Amino acid sequence: MEPADATDAFDFTALRASEFARLDTAGIAYLDYAAGALYGASQAREHGDRLVHGIFGNPHSEHLASRHSAAAQAAARAATLAFFDADPEIHDVCFTANATAAIKLVAESYAFSLRRGLILSADNHNSVNGIREFAWRAGAPVSVLPLDSELRLDRGSAHVRASIERQGAGLFAFPQQSNFSGVRHDLSLIEEAGALGCDVLVDAAAAGPYGALSLREHAADFVVCSFYKLFGLPTGVGALIAKKSALARLRRPWFSGGTVEFVSVAHGRYALRTGHEGFEDGTPNFLDLAAIESGFAFLDRMPRPGLRAHIQSHTQHFLARAATLRHRNGAPLVRLYGPRDMEQRGGIVAFNVLRSDGGVLPHEHVEWRAREHGVAIRGGCFCNPGAAEKAFGFDAMGVDRCFDKLEGRFSIEAFRSCAGQGATVGALRLSVGAPTTRTDIERAVALVVDCSE
Ligand SMILES: Cc1ncc(COP(=O)(O)O)c(C=O)c1O
Repeated sequence: MEPADATDAFDFTALRASEFARLDTAGIAYLDYAAGALYGASQAREHGDRLVHGIFGNPHSEHLASRHSAAAQAAARAATLAFFDADPEIHDVCFTANATAAIKLVAESYAFSLRRGLILSADNHNSVNGIREFAWRAGAPVSVLPLDSELRLDRGSAHVRASIERQGAGLFAFPQQSNFSGVRHDLSLIEEAGALGCDVLVDAAAAGPYGALSLREHAADFVVCSFYKLFGLPTGVGALIAKKSALARLRRPWFSGGTVEFVSVAHGRYALRTGHEGFEDGTPNFLDLAAIESGFAFLDRMPRPGLRAHIQSHTQHFLARAATLRHRNGAPLVRLYGPRDMEQRGGIVAFNVLRSDGGVLPHEHVEWRAREHGVAIRGGCFCNPGAAEKAFGFDAMGVDRCFDKLEGRFSIEAFRSCAGQGATVGALRLSVGAPTTRTDIERAVALVVDCSE
């Protein structure tokens, strides 16, 4: 387990009462932080005041109101670099609409070729898996690193090396923390792949608010995030944090307003701006960008070791409770996917509820009961089909066969019936955040027990 400093006490109960009382007013046990963190009431008040009293113009103009927006944007950039412990001389921040748009900036601009391919971990969000379409279009090789039974990378280092030996160096992309299993992957792969000539993209979107990647320690070429997953407000803003040298090697497929120094219509020439300016298409989301600095300040109120210990203790509690739940006939009530302990894992747990005969209760059924219980958890495969395939034991041939058979009429129901009754095609995901209480976790446990009756 990552070490937690017990002396770094912080009153999370008081935080819940002062900042997240609306959860208790609404009676919702919110346990979907991997999908979106919740903003504190003071963040919303502060941002409201900022909008009521401030005058923010389009930052592409030069008047005073525009300067306010430009200053807020610069503060957001500095806070983002500080969060990822990045040296501003080495890394730059490009603001985007979300993590997906940040990934696409790299995907569409990367120099994929027959000799410069893509290496993906099987555990990746679809927004990273989609990079392969750009690679394939360029005729570049694509390889996928397998997972072991705990959904960790199976001998990650050896497989990265073997992929590079086979297809040459290129772009290597993996998540810091799995949005399916909560596994926190080995960050030394960044140095290892980098030393062998790869550009490394780390998807930090599901890494949560504690244990941020230190770019001084692990100098990834590209890191992506969405701010709503860190502190709830704003939505609609993400970032590509990139080494300046790596950014300079990307070749953008077009130009747009905001990214150019000069364009000639008569002569068909243009000059792209350098650094982040060349990657921020159009007018930035300047009102929402102004909320980022206070979002980080909100997080900074919680000592990181205390936040980590808080999230880990609630996650561990759910894992322990789920592992011991039994039907009257002694059969287990829950199937957990991913690690059973807290070793190198964060506050995300994927599971299914089992019938007394061992069959999996369809996740949609549990989701439906969860709505009745006021428990907010996620169902499906969480846009992470590689982890799901391994967790549910899909074989590639079976998936292929169903794709061919269901061409044009794909749905979870159709896939379930093609894969064979009894096939598992989705799970539930519970994820923990700063506002989580023991009561929230017990309500999730009660939901599971109720589903089995
Ligand atoms: C690991 C991971 N990567 C990427 C994304 C995409 O983030 P967004 O939808 O904010 O672009 C998500 C969203 O859930 C995620 O969990």
